Amino acid sequence: MSEEMVVTPWKVSGEVNYERLMEQFGTKPITKPLLDRMRRIAGYLHLQLRRGIFFSHRDFDWWLDMYEAGQPVGLYTGRGPSGPCHLGHLLPWFFTKHLQDVFDAHLYFQMTDDEKYLIHPELTLEDTVGYTYENALDLIAVGFDPEKTHIISNVNHVHRLYRLALQVAKHVTYSTVKAIFGFTDSDNIGIIWFPAMQAVPCFIQSIIEGHNVAVLIPAAIDQDPYWRMTRDIAEKLGFYKPAQIHAKFLPGLGRGGKMSASMPETAIFTIDPPEVAARKIMNAYTGGRATAEEQRRLGGDPSICTVYAYYYYLFEEDDKRLRELEHRCRSGELLCGECKAELAERVKRFLRDFQRRREKARNQLDRFFLE
Ligand code: TRP
Repeated sequence: MSEEMVVTPWKVSGEVNYERLMEQFGTKPITKPLLDRMRRIAGYLHLQLRRGIFFSHRDFDWWLDMYEAGQPVGLYTGRGPSGPCHLGHLLPWFFTKHLQDVFDAHLYFQMTDDEKYLIHPELTLEDTVGYTYENALDLIAVGFDPEKTHIISNVNHVHRLYRLALQVAKHVTYSTVKAIFGFTDSDNIGIIWFPAMQAVPCFIQSIIEGHNVAVLIPAAIDQDPYWRMTRDIAEKLGFYKPAQIHAKFLPGLGRGGKMSASMPETAIFTIDPPEVAARKIMNAYTGGRATAEEQRRLGGDPSICTVYAYYYYLFEEDDKRLRELEHRCRSGELLCGECKAELAERVKRFLRDFQRRREKARNQLDRFFLE
């Protein structure tokens, strides 16, 4: 029997049923008309929209209305800096960069070094603040515009956030956050306050620019509880409700589950030596048969294959070639060894290039962090 689905900001386990999540969370699917609209605005449809990786939203249509009406629009996303980044973290950032390019929008990027300190017993503030700067290298390497990207360390920039956080906190009761996040009497009081901090970047651009900005948050769907809370109080504080566009999780290389730093053998970290990443791929869980003979006869099953998932999510841009790959797998023509070796090559190439850009980012940090 499969494990029960749990999706909260601090835990994702079991098999994730995205249809059910949309129902539970009360979000909307990204429909064909919305996709057509994005294709028209961007000139093409990004891989992550074409393939349903971003699949759900709140008020994305309204955000596009604001953009098309010439109103100011902005972007907000973030990262909990508790360790090195892996490809699952980069996935929504690639799409966020696409949004920045298309909409020429400012991005506020929050590093929740406070949150990660509060919830991980073993991490010190030096650790989490240190990861803020390490993870910022990854963010910069994705290619964001230094003139339009503002990284926030909650710990180091608290003076820029505190006034807004207080205004949020004053309007949210304990019973509300208890219901939304499932807090209990044994949680520390820091984490109970923390949702106010995560709400702040929804409004900070409006304060900085002195007029209301329509903000869109591209992020994995586990963060949605924060936005339910924030949307409830935004108008009371005189701001627009933030809009969201929700992503699925990148699977890990093992059997079932999302890519997770707590299972390093099934995660590809951006700082993995390319050869190490290649080895992880060669050990990945696939949809292959027990023997080559069987696979030639019966074919493989891409629908359960993590290697296929990597082509699908990231490493095969060309839809036609992706379909061919799927077909060759199902027909038994393509065996797992060859398929994995090709992916390993692509991942190595990606990592070499990414790591070069990541090192170059070291002396650009100042340009990206908020003052
Ligand atoms: N809480 C998020 C995490 O643990 C980090 C985060 C802060 C975030 N603000 C965000 C993620 C906005 C997405 C969008 O990863």
